[in-house]
Amino acid sequence: MKEFSFQNPTKLVFGKNSISKLAEELSAYGNKILVVYGGGSIKRNGLYDELMQILKDENKEVFEFAGVEPNPRLSTAKRGAEICKENDIDFILAVGGGSVIDCTKLIASAAKYDGDPWDFVTKKASPKEAIPFGTILTIAATGSEMNAGSVITNEETEEKYGWGGPLNFPKFSILDPTYTLSLPKDQTVYGIVDMMSHIFEQYFHNASNTPLQDELCEGALRAIMEAGEKLVNDLQNYELRETILLGGTWGLNGFLGMGNAGGDWGTHDIEHAISAVYDIPHAGGLAILFPHWMKQTLHLNPARYARLSVKVFGVNPEGKSDEEIAIEGIDKLRAYWTSIGAPERLADYGIDGTKIDIMAKKAAVNGPLGRYAQLSEEEVKTLLEASL
Ligand code: NZQ
Ligand code: ZN
Repeated sequence: MKEFSFQNPTKLVFGKNSISKLAEELSAYGNKILVVYGGGSIKRNGLYDELMQILKDENKEVFEFAGVEPNPRLSTAKRGAEICKENDIDFILAVGGGSVIDCTKLIASAAKYDGDPWDFVTKKASPKEAIPFGTILTIAATGSEMNAGSVITNEETEEKYGWGGPLNFPKFSILDPTYTLSLPKDQTVYGIVDMMSHIFEQYFHNASNTPLQDELCEGALRAIMEAGEKLVNDLQNYELRETILLGGTWGLNGFLGMGNAGGDWGTHDIEHAISAVYDIPHAGGLAILFPHWMKQTLHLNPARYARLSVKVFGVNPEGKSDEEIAIEGIDKLRAYWTSIGAPERLADYGIDGTKIDIMAKKAAVNGPLGRYAQLSEEEVKTLLEASL
C-alpha cells in the first residue's frame, strides 16, 4: 500500500425522515441561512416546502439562490458568493445533486475571497476561509455530499476542472432515499454509471498489496449493479433507492481509495473536457468512454482486468488468457450499461469528430492523463475517436 493520511469530517445523517435532524445540525451555526438549489426538482417533489417550514419553525433568516445548472458554472458561483457577501450569510444549505453541492463549495470559499474564485479551481490560490455548509442530497451519483471535490465549468473559456481542499467538506449531509424517488430513469442511470466509474477510477492504480481495498471495490460494484438493474425498472422501490444512495456516497468518500496511490482519474478528466465543450451529462460521457479506456489500457496489467471480469462481471475464466477474460468482461460492462439505458457513443449526443483535437488538448493541459495509465494527448485522441 502507498502510505496515506485519511480524514473525512462530514457527518452523514442517513435514512427515512432524516430531515428531522436538520434543526439540531443547524443549531451550531448562525441565523442567516442561504439555501442553494437547482432548477426546481425540489419544489416538485415537496422537499422545498418541508425544508422551508423547518427553517421557519427555527426562526432562521432565509435567503435563496435558485437555478444552479447541471455542470455548474463559474458565473453562477460568483453570483451566489455576492449574495453571501451582501447579506453576511452564516451558513449555506445545498439542496440537490452534485452540481448544487459543487457550486456551493465554490460559493462558500469565494464569499471569503476578494480575488477571482476561478483561482481556486486552477489552483493559483487556495482558500483560507469558507462559510460552513451542509447538504440535503437528492440524487445518488457523485459522492460530493461526503468529499472535498468540486467540479466547475468556466463557460467563457470552455474549461471544466475539479478542485478540492479541506474547507470543501460539508459539515453534515442529510440523505433520505425518499427524496430520490422522484428521479427520472435517465438521471437514475447516470447516477449508477457515475458511482461505478468512481470505483473503477480507484480500482486501477499503481499500488501493490491492496487486497482489502480490491475486495471492497468489487463487492460495492456487484451490489450497485444488482440493485441498479432492478431499480431502473422499479423507480419507486425505496429499498433499491436506499442501496444506490449509499453506494454513491461510498463510491467517492475516500474509503475505497485508501492506500491506492490516488487511483487513475484520467477518464474523468477526459469526460470533463467533453462536457466543457458540449455540456453533456457527466455520466453520459463516462459511460461512453470507460469501456474504451479499459480496452486501450488493459495491456498495462491484463491480470487486473481479468480479475475484475471474473469477480464483478461473472466471466468464466476456464481455458482463456487474461486478455480474453478481460475483453469479455469489458464487453459485459458495456452490455450492462446499455441494458440499463446509458449511451454508447458520442454520436448519441450529436457529437462528431470536429472538436477532438480541442478536447484532447484541454484534457491533457497538465500533461499525461491519469496517474495509472498516463495517456498522452495522442492517446486521448485515439480514445475519443474510438468513442465516436
Ligand atoms: O436542477 P434540478 O431541478 O434539481 O434537477 C436536477 C438536474 O437536472 C435533477 N435532479 C436532482 N435531484 C432530483 C432531480 N430530479 C428529480 N428528482 C430529484 N430528486 O437531476 C439533474 C442532474 O443533477 P446534477 O446535480 O447535475 O447531477 P449529479 O449529482 O450527477 O452532478 C453532476 C455534476 O457533478 C460533477 C459532474 O462533473 C457534474 O458537474 N462531479 C462532481 C464530483 C465531486 N464533487 O466529487 C465527482 C464527479 O465525478 C463529477 O465530476
Ligand atoms: Zn464522476
